[in-house]
Amino acid sequence: MKKTIVAYALIASVAAALAVNAQQNADKGGKMQLTIQGYKAIGYPGLAGMPGFSEKLIADHVKLYQGYVTNVNALSEKLSALLADGKERTPEYAELKRRFGWEFGGMRLHELYFGNLGGAGTPRMDSHVLKAIQEGFGSFEAWKKDFTATGAMRGIGWAVLYKDKVSGRLFNAWVNEHDGGQLAGCVPLLVMDVFEHAYLTDYRLERAKYIEAFMNAIEWEAADQRFHE
Ligand SMILES: [Fe+2]
Repeated sequence: MKKTIVAYALIASVAAALAVNAQQNADKGGKMQLTIQGYKAIGYPGLAGMPGFSEKLIADHVKLYQGYVTNVNALSEKLSALLADGKERTPEYAELKRRFGWEFGGMRLHELYFGNLGGAGTPRMDSHVLKAIQEGFGSFEAWKKDFTATGAMRGIGWAVLYKDKVSGRLFNAWVNEHDGGQLAGCVPLLVMDVFEHAYLTDYRLERAKYIEAFMNAIEWEAADQRFHE
């Protein structure tokens, strides 16, 4: 327990230093830019004003996502430094290595989530993803019933429509937090965040209403593009 606290404190200190650096840059340039080396957070200005989601909710959510990017970069650098220093067989290295999957999953799942929002909620009748859904689940309505039921499960995590690259089959899966239950080797076609932070601002604890708003705001072209990956 003590070692875990030390590891988390380590992450917090690295992230805090990077946040100060980013804030200094924001003060200079007026617009937030991450100055850390490595992966840059994606912006989602097109989602502002999206029906069913307040601008505050989206802005706060994107800010939270940026924190995952910061931590992925910080962890990546810290792990490399520990390895270079010959400290790879330490509790710190092990805890940060475990933490990396959680932070990376949080980062990428949010990118997929924001990337499949901002649409009208209806797939093109001739899209390949719709055809696969109809073949796999019997009908779009049957798929939707299963997907929304997955998202309504108690707990914090994600509902994800996956395509298995090996068999071509589609699955609606529950991902616990960011790193439990992901289907190995499958392509995430559609991702829905059901952590409370995804809807609390606008819907309080009424997750069902948020899920309805999400379904009406899906950008199905994104899912169709992922289908061909
Ligand atoms: Fe989220």
